[in-house]
Amino acid sequence: MYAQLAVCSLLSTVAFAARAPVDNGIKFPFSRNHKTVTNDDGTVNPEWYFGELKHTVGKYGMKVKLPGKAGEVVRRGTSSIPDAFEPLKDQGNDLLYYGIATVGAENDKPQAFTTDFDTGSADFFVPGPTCGTAQGCVGKIKYDRGGVDEGNTTAVTYGSGMIMGENYFDSVDVAGLTAENTNVISLTSAQGFSTSKSAARMGMAFSTIARSKQPTWFENLITQKVISNPDFSFFLGGRASDRFRGPVTKIPLSAETYWQVAVDTVLVNGKKAPAFDPTVGNAAIDTGTTLVIAPTLATASIYSRVPGAFPVPVSGTNLLVYAYPCKQTPNVAFQFGGKGRKFATNKKDFSLGTITTNFAEFIGDDGMARRLADTQYCLGSVAGADINPGLNLYVVGDTFLKNWYSIYSYNNDGGKPSVSFAKASVSIPS
Ligand SMILES: *[C@@H]1O[C@H](CO)[C@@H](O)[C@H](O)[C@H]1NC(C)=O
Repeated sequence: MYAQLAVCSLLSTVAFAARAPVDNGIKFPFSRNHKTVTNDDGTVNPEWYFGELKHTVGKYGMKVKLPGKAGEVVRRGTSSIPDAFEPLKDQGNDLLYYGIATVGAENDKPQAFTTDFDTGSADFFVPGPTCGTAQGCVGKIKYDRGGVDEGNTTAVTYGSGMIMGENYFDSVDVAGLTAENTNVISLTSAQGFSTSKSAARMGMAFSTIARSKQPTWFENLITQKVISNPDFSFFLGGRASDRFRGPVTKIPLSAETYWQVAVDTVLVNGKKAPAFDPTVGNAAIDTGTTLVIAPTLATASIYSRVPGAFPVPVSGTNLLVYAYPCKQTPNVAFQFGGKGRKFATNKKDFSLGTITTNFAEFIGDDGMARRLADTQYCLGSVAGADINPGLNLYVVGDTFLKNWYSIYSYNNDGGKPSVSFAKASVSIPS
């Protein structure tokens, strides 16, 4: 049901653009819900949390070690995990988290796939005919392989998983915008592929990081002159026509791989790191990720400025996870690309929920359980992992992006690509 609504929304935002080149850029509804990490009662769901962490660092090529039970994290969307999207059905606007990508020429029975639009990757994957639940695929519709078989495959080692698929050239349409000869990867195996219920994933980063070594759908729209203004943007699932307010700040990219920008500093309650600033680095702006991942030294620096915060003892792991007293509501703000503007995470979103004894049990730590007896602790939405030490790379996902309307342009910064942020005018209630 939500899929249908998502189609309507996509079509209505760009319906005017079905034939002539589009001038206004493409607007996508936001593609994931951060509440999936938080249970309805406001507590953290440890399976999801560690699953999401594992998925994200795996996507960026780092293998994660998780302790004890956390090491056996189950994929989302399996029957052992409650359905994260059920509650959304009651929430009107929040339904619109996915888009639809249609594959196949008009005279060749086009197929519609529910799709995550992911600025943190650059390949387009759909479930192939032999990829069922056991192989890690979701969704009933399987690609009919109606495109041109390229006779080769794309394989991605993905943290602990492996994604493999056959390459086809086919026409791919999103919201009436069709790119011909777009590389479609028909999945044969998708272990560790997705943490969402979307069947397909559309990579919206630069093809410099495409494993298929092919241009992305959006790059094809540009070269095939389907669009005249090479921008797209992500907005929260609202239907208001005003999707942002106030100034739009354009941030130059520090690399054309991910939508990567320089991080000048991270402020906590307006304060910079006291001396040497370990928060300096780069950030991949990633709509396909729920959390914010920061380098471990930066993470420690951020939480050192939150009174009462302490690292959660997840022994044997290469992740750094912090708890802090829930009565604290730290304002954590990024400065990007020399622009000086402070981009804050919503204070409410900084918490991923309260930590329960269930969480302490999950990580196998009794000390944690004892601590919970006196104080209510919350799990911070910034987690530490050194996924790319050379770049001091952050991954900035939905917990940040849900408050910032983001625009991805290939040429609006003196002909160069940039990411722009403006204050989102529709905010999802926490
Ligand atoms: C697969 O084959 C196509 C068509 O010959 C070619 O354009 C493409 O580069 C190949 N892809 C890989 C990953 O080798």
